[in-house]
Amino acid sequence: MALITKAIRGTQDVLPSDSAAWQHMERTALQVAHDYGFREVRTPVFEHTELFTRSVGETTDVVQKEMYTFDDKGGRSITLRPEGTAGAMRMLLEHGLHNEALPVKVAYVTSCYRYEKPQAGRLREFHQFGVESYGAASPLADAETIALADAVLKALSVTGVTLRLNSIGCPTCRAEYHKALKAYFEGKKDELCGTCLDRLDRNPMRILDCKSPVCSAIAAEAPVITDYLCDDCAAHFAKVQEYLTAADIAFELDPHIVRGLDYYTRTVFEFVSDALGAQAVLCGGGRYDGLCEEMGGPKLPALGFAMGLERLLMVLKAQEAALPEPTRCTVYFASLGEAAATHCFKLANALRAGGIAAECDTVGRGLKAQMKYADKLGALYTVVVGDSEIESGEATLKDMKTGEATPVVLDEGALYNDLYNKELDRHFAAVANLLEG
Ligand code: HAM
Repeated sequence: MALITKAIRGTQDVLPSDSAAWQHMERTALQVAHDYGFREVRTPVFEHTELFTRSVGETTDVVQKEMYTFDDKGGRSITLRPEGTAGAMRMLLEHGLHNEALPVKVAYVTSCYRYEKPQAGRLREFHQFGVESYGAASPLADAETIALADAVLKALSVTGVTLRLNSIGCPTCRAEYHKALKAYFEGKKDELCGTCLDRLDRNPMRILDCKSPVCSAIAAEAPVITDYLCDDCAAHFAKVQEYLTAADIAFELDPHIVRGLDYYTRTVFEFVSDALGAQAVLCGGGRYDGLCEEMGGPKLPALGFAMGLERLLMVLKAQEAALPEPTRCTVYFASLGEAAATHCFKLANALRAGGIAAECDTVGRGLKAQMKYADKLGALYTVVVGDSEIESGEATLKDMKTGEATPVVLDEGALYNDLYNKELDRHFAAVANLLEG
């Protein structure tokens, strides 16, 4: 029985108590993205396996160890998306979006799947808010994309976050760097893990983000890419820094950032939070100018980032940021008797149609139990309806917080007006409070 009452390791549910916070993160992120010109897209949760092996890279941890891959009933190899960039690029090419006026900028909120060892901040099903910008080669686009990530964090009042920035160059400068890395790691061959020994020949840069403690310690002393950047890459990187500085976005240079995915070129960055412990990277991204061609498309510069939403929520909770209250009930209609129950059902539906959250009894409780339930729901107001209220067409609206009782006309339109005005008053009071604060 335990199998059907326990979620799979590394997955988690979003309970009603947290859903308002999730909606808040997703809406805020997509709204800020919209203001930066990024339009929402949605892609399938699974794709052909080859899409990820080709784009994310065969020697990455994600492809070698973490993908959920299976054959479907038609014998095709399918993979649950481990990240959003590859699927978004497939979408762009399939629908010819790159033929529209460039840059084309997209944003998404998606679930991702990686078979990693679960721990705080590391799940097997997790969610990302991500953006991708296609067709802009200028360092201004790098700065704009980073500014967007920064603006999302600011809009959510996230503090204690550092932006770390690096450039991992282009294939030209990387050829020299690979030689230097190879020479360095050859000398440490006996200590490297089996996977990294294989990477030594195929893709030595991947050793730099191996999660084994021994390999990471060796990698910390390895030559850094910034010493090998070609003139163009160095100039591009200098411009990105200049633009970020002009936009008052603070950053630290970190030559050790290489990112765990193969498609990156030039600028790479991570926003790291001091509230996250071991899994400190809240947001990661960079430029990937070669991916479109690699996937059979035209030459198309591109860049983007993704932010882990579970990690973001952990940060918001750790810093006790103001999060929206779980959905609340504005008015609860408590009924006495069958005729009143029907009346309350009708009134509640009419108010709901006007966007006011209303509830009435659906389980046949007595009046006292209904009031208790209304209290548990956090209802702001209650109206008790019995035969005499139906007959007189009048009732009492009770403010559950202050106990204040106001006579109301028991009519859809009148009630709607009363409650709508009260909602407005509450809204303006909240805004005034915010402004004062
Ligand atoms: P990534 O660094 O692999 O990049 O993931 C981005 C973010 O997703 C991480 O910073 C982290 O917050 C979250 N994340 C990753 N793995 C897990 C996990 N196992 N559990 C919980 N959260 C996790 C990408 O995915 C790239 N596609 C980003 C990108 C978009 N680059 C360019 N465009």
